[in-house]
Amino acid sequence: MTHVLVTGGAGYIGSHACKALRSAGYTPVTYDNLVTGWEDAVKFGPLEQGDLQDRACLDEVFERYSPIAVMHFAALSQVGESMQDPGRYWHNNVVGSLVLIEAAVEAECQNFVFSSTCATYGEHDNVLLDEDCPQMPINAYGASKRAIEDILENFSASHGLNHVIFRYFNVAGADPEAEIGEFHQPETHLVPLMLDAIDGKRDALTIFGTDYDTPDGTCIRDYVHVMDLVDAHILGLKWLENGKGNRIFNLGSGTGFSVREVIEHSRAVTNRVVPFTEGPRRPGDCTKLVSGSVRADRELGWKPSRSTLEMMIADAWRWHQNGHYDR
Ligand code: UFG
Repeated sequence: MTHVLVTGGAGYIGSHACKALRSAGYTPVTYDNLVTGWEDAVKFGPLEQGDLQDRACLDEVFERYSPIAVMHFAALSQVGESMQDPGRYWHNNVVGSLVLIEAAVEAECQNFVFSSTCATYGEHDNVLLDEDCPQMPINAYGASKRAIEDILENFSASHGLNHVIFRYFNVAGADPEAEIGEFHQPETHLVPLMLDAIDGKRDALTIFGTDYDTPDGTCIRDYVHVMDLVDAHILGLKWLENGKGNRIFNLGSGTGFSVREVIEHSRAVTNRVVPFTEGPRRPGDCTKLVSGSVRADRELGWKPSRSTLEMMIADAWRWHQNGHYDR
């Protein structure tokens, strides 16, 4: 069996990656502390419960499975929370990743796929972002991810650690078979919050800021379907297996939608009213984050097939109506 260690495999993106790995013939070993992840989401390989900062536990897991690669998803990922409690983000994300990288190197597991973010770019006036744009994060979450990119770079130079870094734009949607989906506790992401508001599971959605310098005053984001996103990870893994070296790829659809546009598409897809109110800006939010890169397409051969707002909302809605996890 060819094992891949998937940190955060019980989380939203990690669990979808496990499904994709399983379909591609690998056995995903989930390593997750279950603080934000869900045991119910681990369906495609074994679960090893442990913390990123627990070096002894990591060493044991590397020893037991001899994985050919690490896919590192485990992280705290809320922009707003990171502004209120940056220390948690530096400890969990940065220190945790450092311990993981050291354990991987010592176990001679030299292929590393890292889940980074376009939040590392920060504010760039009306620019479509490519991988060479300067990284100037404006929130602690983005800063923590940029720091991990630097650690990977250093360990590559010192220990020959091969890595692919994916800078995600806004991930949405769910497994079309609804075996797994997006479920955070507490929830802060636009699409699941909106679906909750639509079917009355929570009060109206609040639009965070209507005075941004965009055509309708609300923030613009580039949404990418989680199934397309995890497909890119399989291609990234094969890239490393084929010895192609370190590379950074943006993963986005290249099209931006404002919060109001997402609301309008959700109304159309679900055929329901979206209750919303308008509120102040959320600290740490960039005006616009849209990918302007075709590198993943050109070099990895990545062809997103589900990343339209309609499909993302339809798949998220299907999961929302049928699926949930229990603690
Ligand atoms: N938004 C609202 N109301 C809400 C929630 C969100 O108006 O109740 C707005 C936000 O202000 C933002 C957009 O909807 O403009 C998307 O917000 P999300 O919280 O869904 O996503 P973020 O853009 O803040 O962050 C997400 C991930 C990060 C990742 C980032 C990249 O959570 O991990 O996308 O853009 F880095």
